[in-house]
Amino acid sequence: MSLIIAPSLLSADFAHLADEVRSVEEGGADWLHLDVMDGHFVPNITFGPPLVASVRRVTKLFLDVHLMIEHPLKYAEVFAKSGADLLSFQVEGKDEPDEVIAEMRRLGVKVGIVLNPPTPVGRILPYLDKVDMVLVMSVNPGFGGQKFIPDVLSKVEEIRRRRGPDFWIQMDGGINPETAKLAVRAGVNILVAGNAIFGASDRGAIIRALRAVGRG
Ligand code: DX5
Ligand code: ZN
Repeated sequence: MSLIIAPSLLSADFAHLADEVRSVEEGGADWLHLDVMDGHFVPNITFGPPLVASVRRVTKLFLDVHLMIEHPLKYAEVFAKSGADLLSFQVEGKDEPDEVIAEMRRLGVKVGIVLNPPTPVGRILPYLDKVDMVLVMSVNPGFGGQKFIPDVLSKVEEIRRRRGPDFWIQMDGGINPETAKLAVRAGVNILVAGNAIFGASDRGAIIRALRAVGRG
């Protein structure tokens, strides 16, 4: 299976953002994952549209913007206009998922729906045929560097069974070359990794190691 590798910018050195982005682009990354947190949906605050727009100016990478916010409906447009290629939103948020999906479609971006580790897969099934991607969180969102929760893998298997081989299933949280094997075996084809990639001095080597999991 050919994998999409998406370094999560949350673990980068924000004082040297352009260099950090260039290092993963030159290292062979496919996408760049940007974690937006509002201090309400999760107990942390990261960055907003101006940072996405700045990153857009320094890279050609596909920008995958993960909205960990209570009100994706209100903010989808400004993130789309900042240069996001894909917006993903949490099914546990306060807006009606069908309305969020319709708004993102209107904006012309790819659409992802996200579910947290305690959320049963049944919560996203009504939307499965309406989105381009499902992100199955493998940590409780809010911070990088947490431990992978293997219980979530059965959700991936069910989504893969229902949507077939070409659908985008992303996993985010605690991904390294070891946990990536479990994720890929369950049916994941997009790997997000923060600490594993930005914590490594040779970004190309760790990206190759993650990609090799798909060939094993
Ligand atoms: C967690 C974020 C992740 C995070 C992953 O709330 O959604 O994208 O950056 O970081 P690692 O790979 O270090 O667990
Ligand atoms: Zn994320």
